[in-house]
Amino acid sequence: MIQPLNIFVLTGAGVSAESGLKTFRDADGLWTQNDLAELATPEGFAKNPTRVREFYSARRKILEIAAPNRAHFALARLEKEMTALGGSVFLCTQNVDDLHEKAGHKRAVHMHGELTVTRCTMCSGRWTDRGPLTAAQVCPECGTVGTTRPHVVWFGELPMFMDQIEQALEEADLFVAIGTSGSVYPAAGFVAEARALGISTCEINLSRSDNAHAFDRRLYGPATEKVAQWVGEVLGD
Ligand code: APR
Repeated sequence: MIQPLNIFVLTGAGVSAESGLKTFRDADGLWTQNDLAELATPEGFAKNPTRVREFYSARRKILEIAAPNRAHFALARLEKEMTALGGSVFLCTQNVDDLHEKAGHKRAVHMHGELTVTRCTMCSGRWTDRGPLTAAQVCPECGTVGTTRPHVVWFGELPMFMDQIEQALEEADLFVAIGTSGSVYPAAGFVAEARALGISTCEINLSRSDNAHAFDRRLYGPATEKVAQWVGEVLGD
């Protein structure tokens, strides 16, 4: 008989790697190939907004043709079946792509924002936008021109939904980190919080993360293989 569990799942760029989206710190990663200070900080945006808008517009173009992979579908299955059993899956993703949703995941909490959302720097209005970010765009909320930015959390800015995330951590029976290097806080600190709460922890990754030592259990290999295997185990396949 499968036990209903409250499972907290943290995903990072590694879960979307096999869908063709670059990670950040691998050899061909976005921050290995580009200067994050220029592209992912408020200062970089203030200095050269056109360059930043072009970078995120290019990432939107790539996302248009990216499809969810077996790992995304396995997590959507886990959410559906664990909920039906009276348990829960709290999916906290560091990713700004929409592949969890495209795989049918009902509730993904994007702590670093969403690539397919544009925000107005004047009124903070936001709207779904899969097209290019330009200075000519007019904010549909306040009518100002030239105030668009991606609704993505940059370095030095506060991650989103932290209250919900902390509460879900406290209520979890199991904490699983998937496809993340464990190098960016506060997400990288969630495993230590889980341990302090006496929660079992598992890392599923291509290779050891920076905080691999903090996990009770570690599964290494491609997410499309290991996540599907782990979900099958939890659901008693
Ligand atoms: N399957 C499983 N894991 C993989 C795969 C794969 N196919 N490919 C890569 N990985 C792993 C890498 O080994 C690495 O540990 O995914 C991890 C990706 O790490 P990062 O590139 O650092 O991405 P992430 O941990 O999501 O970065 C966190 O940093 O720049 C910020 O906001 C950005 O959300 C991002 C945050």
